[in-house]
Amino acid sequence: MLWDRAFKALAVVASCCASVADAITYTPLKPPSYPLAVRSPYLSAWIPGNDVASLPSHNAQFWEGNKLIWSVIARVDGVAYNLFGVAFPPNGTQSAVVTEAVYTSSHTIFTVTAGSRNFTLDFFSPVSPKNYLRQSLPFSYLTVTVAAGDSSSVQIYSDIDASWTGQPGHARWSFSRNASTSVYEIQAVNTATFSENNQGQALWGSAVYASRPTDSSLLSSASGPSLSTRESFINGGSLTDTQDEWSSTGVVAFAHDLGTTTDASAVTFAIGHARKESIDFLGQTQTGYYRARYPEVVGAVSHFLDDYEDANAESVKFDQLIQDTGVYSYGNKDYSDILALSVRQVYGGIELTIPSESLDVKEVRAFIKEISSDGNINTVDVIYATFPIFYVLSPEFLKLLLTPVFEYMGSSAYTKLYAVHELGANYPNATGHPANGEEMPIEESGNMIILTYAYQIATGKTDLAETYSAQLKQFADYLFQNGLYPASQLSLNDALGALANQTNLAVKAAVGLATYGALSGQSNYTAAGKDFAGKIWTDHLGTDVNGTHFLIQYGEEPWFLVYNHYPDLLFNLDTFPGEAYNATAQFYPTVRKTDGVPLDGAISWGQTNWQSFVAATVRGPTRNLFIDDLHRYISNGLNSAPFSDRYWVEAGNGFSAGQEYAFRARPTLGSHFALAALTGADILFSE
Ligand SMILES: *[C@@H]1O[C@H](CO)[C@@H](O)[C@H](O)[C@H]1NC(C)=O
Ligand SMILES: *[C@@H]1O[C@H](CO)[C@@H](O)[C@H](O)[C@H]1NC(C)=O
Ligand SMILES: *[C@@H]1O[C@H](CO)[C@@H](O)[C@H](O)[C@H]1NC(C)=O
Ligand SMILES: *[C@@H]1O[C@H](CO)[C@@H](O)[C@H](O)[C@H]1NC(C)=O
Ligand SMILES: *[C@@H]1O[C@H](CO)[C@@H](O)[C@H](O)[C@H]1NC(C)=O
Ligand SMILES: *[C@@H]1O[C@H](CO)[C@@H](O)[C@H](O)[C@H]1NC(C)=O
Ligand SMILES: *[C@@H]1O[C@H](CO)[C@@H](O)[C@H](O)[C@H]1NC(C)=O
Ligand SMILES: *[C@@H]1O[C@H](CO)[C@@H](O)[C@H](O)[C@H]1NC(C)=O
Repeated sequence: MLWDRAFKALAVVASCCASVADAITYTPLKPPSYPLAVRSPYLSAWIPGNDVASLPSHNAQFWEGNKLIWSVIARVDGVAYNLFGVAFPPNGTQSAVVTEAVYTSSHTIFTVTAGSRNFTLDFFSPVSPKNYLRQSLPFSYLTVTVAAGDSSSVQIYSDIDASWTGQPGHARWSFSRNASTSVYEIQAVNTATFSENNQGQALWGSAVYASRPTDSSLLSSASGPSLSTRESFINGGSLTDTQDEWSSTGVVAFAHDLGTTTDASAVTFAIGHARKESIDFLGQTQTGYYRARYPEVVGAVSHFLDDYEDANAESVKFDQLIQDTGVYSYGNKDYSDILALSVRQVYGGIELTIPSESLDVKEVRAFIKEISSDGNINTVDVIYATFPIFYVLSPEFLKLLLTPVFEYMGSSAYTKLYAVHELGANYPNATGHPANGEEMPIEESGNMIILTYAYQIATGKTDLAETYSAQLKQFADYLFQNGLYPASQLSLNDALGALANQTNLAVKAAVGLATYGALSGQSNYTAAGKDFAGKIWTDHLGTDVNGTHFLIQYGEEPWFLVYNHYPDLLFNLDTFPGEAYNATAQFYPTVRKTDGVPLDGAISWGQTNWQSFVAATVRGPTRNLFIDDLHRYISNGLNSAPFSDRYWVEAGNGFSAGQEYAFRARPTLGSHFALAALTGADILFSE
C-alpha cells in the first residue's frame, strides 16, 4: 500500500514536468491511447493519452502509429480556434484549451474551451454485437457540440485527407449527395484488392467522410489544397461547394454554420473505411454484412447517419452495463475501467461478413485479425484469448469465428489430425494455412473443443458441436494420445520457442479432454482429463518437487503462469483439484516483480491476457493483485500505443517497468472479461 502511494506520487511529478499546463480532468483515467474511430482492422484511429493536452495540434494515428489527417476547427464570433488535429496552425487561428477527457466503452469525449464557448468532441464507435447490421457498418461518429453560452456566432469545420487510404501520395476522390447527406470517398490509385501497406492499412476500398445539415445548421463542403480550404473557412466561416481534383496536399472538408446561437447545438460527421470485397475466404469473396441492405457506400453511410440516435441511445445502456459488470464481478470500478478501455479494441479487430455473390444473411461469418503480432486471420489461439468477452456479451461470435475454421479443416485442403493454427498468414486472405505456417497441435486442438463448448454453455445451443462432431472427436482423441507428454512444439506463447513436455500444454489437454467429456456426454473423456490432471498436479509431473507451483516443462524450472485451467473453473469441470488453485494463489504473489507477475520465472515481461485468466482462477488478495497491476499499467502514463497486452514487469532491456512491449491494438483484450465471465454468460439484450 505504501509502495503504491509512493508510485502514484512519482507519476504525478512526472506528468507535472512533462506538461506544465496539464490541468485536464481525465475520467476515469488517462489511458495509453484513446480510441477515436475503431470499428475494423482498417478503421482504427487513435490518439495517445499523452497527446490529449495538446489535442488542437496533435494528429490522430492509425493503430500502427502513422498519422491520419483529421481536423476540427471552430469559429466563434469570427475568430478561428483549432480544436483537433491542426499540426500547423494557420495564420490568425488560436488554439482551444482542453479541459476534460473521458472514455467509456463506446465513446471518447474531449471538452475544450474556444473563446467564450465550450465545445465537446464525441468520438463514438458503436459496439452492438447482437445487431449485425449496426455492428458491421464500417463507420464511426464524430459529434461536435457547442455548449450553451453567450449569443456568439458559431461555425464548425472538419476535414480528412488521403492518409486514410493507406496511400497518401496517390489517390483520387469523389463527392456525392443522397438527399441532404453529403459524402466524400477517397481511394488509393493503382493498388491491388486485398493488399495492405506496411502499416497494415487497406489499400483497396475507400475512406469515407460524410455529414448532413441539422435543423439549425447550414452545411457547405469543398475539396482542395489543405491550406486554402482551411483558410476559406477561417476567413469566411463557410466553404465554396467546389470540388477540385485530388492533389497530394488535398483535403475533403465540411463546414456547418450554426449562426448566432445561445443554445447547445451539435453536428455529426461519419468517418469510415469501406471495402466491397472484404475477405477472401478460400477463393470466395465475402462482403460486409450490411451490404445485404445497403449495397453501396453512399446508402450505407446515409443509413449510418439515420441510425445515430438509436445507436447512441443503445450505447448509453451498453456503457452502463459494462460499468456495472466490472463492479458486480470484481467489487470496485477499477475493473470497469479496464473493461471499458478494452471493448472497442476487441470488436474493432473483427468483421462480420456474408458471401458477396449471394448476399445471404443466413451465411454470416466473422473474421478476426491478429493485429500487430503478425496479421494472421482467425488464429485459433487469438480467439481463445478473446473468448471471455464473447462468452459475456456475444457468444454467437464464437460460432461465427469458428465456423470458417471448421469449414477449412473439413475440406480436402487440410489433412492433419490436430487443429489448424489459423486460416491464413495475412488478413484479409483466409486462403488456408501455409505449409510453412505455425503448428500448435495441442494448443489449437484443445482450443477448438473449449471454444465450441463455451458457445454451447453460453447460448444453450448444440448446433456447432453437432455439425462438427467428427472433427471435435478427432481432436479429443489427439489430445488423449499426445497430450500428457507433449512432443516438442510451439505453444501460443510462440516467443518462448518450441519446447517438449510443456506443462501448460498438458494442462490444456487435460481441460480439453474434460471439456469434451462434458460436451459429448462421454464420461471416459472426463475421466481421462482428470487422470492427466492428477499426474500433472498431484503426482508432481508438472510441478516442483514440493508441489507449490507449476513448471514451464516437466522437471525444469522456471515456474510458469499456468492459465489453461481457467476453462476448468469457468465450466465447473473439477478437473484439477481445488488445492492446485489454492497453491497457485499463494505462489504467484511471491514471484511478482516491480509491476506485475511475468509469464514465467525467466523473463521480465507479462501478458495481460493470461494475467487476467489467472486472476479469475484465484481469489482474495491474489486476485486483487492482478487487477491492481493491470489498472496501474493502463494508467501509469508511460505508454502511447493502443492498449498493448504485453508489458515489462520490471526494468531492463532499455525499458522501465510498466512500459508496453511491441504488441498493440490486438483484439485479444477480450481476455480481460475472464473474471466477468464467472458471473454470467450472454448478458447483453439486443436492441
Ligand atoms: C503568416 O504570417 C506571417 C507573418 O505575418 C507571414 O510571414 C506568412 O507569410 C503568413 N503565412 C501565410 C501562409 O499566410
Ligand atoms: C467552459 O468550461 C469551463 C471549464 O469547465 C467552465 O469553467 C466555464 O464556465 C465554461 N464556460 C461556458 C461558457 O460554459
Ligand atoms: C492477399 O492476396 C492478394 C493476392 O490474391 C495479394 O495481392 C495481397 O497482397 C495479399 N494481402 C496481404 C495482406 O498479404
Ligand atoms: C440514400 O440513403 C438511404 C438511407 O438514408 C438509402 O436507403 C438509399 O439507398 C440511399 N440512396 C442512394 C441513391 O444512395
Ligand atoms: C517428457 O517427460 C517424460 C517424463 O518426465 C520423459 O520421460 C520424456 O523423455 C520427456 N520427453 C522429452 C521429449 O523430453
Ligand atoms: C471413450 O469411449 C468411447 C466409446 O466406447 C470410445 O470410442 C473412445 O475411444 C473412448 N475414449 C477414451 C479417451 O477413452
Ligand atoms: C520442499 O519442502 C521441504 C520441507 O518443507 C523443504 O525442506 C525443501 O527445501 C523444499 N524443497 C524445495 C525444492 O523447495
Ligand atoms: C482452498 O482455500 C479455501 C479458502 O482459503 C478453503 O476454504 C478450501 O478448503 C481450500 N481448498 C483446498 C482443496 O485446499
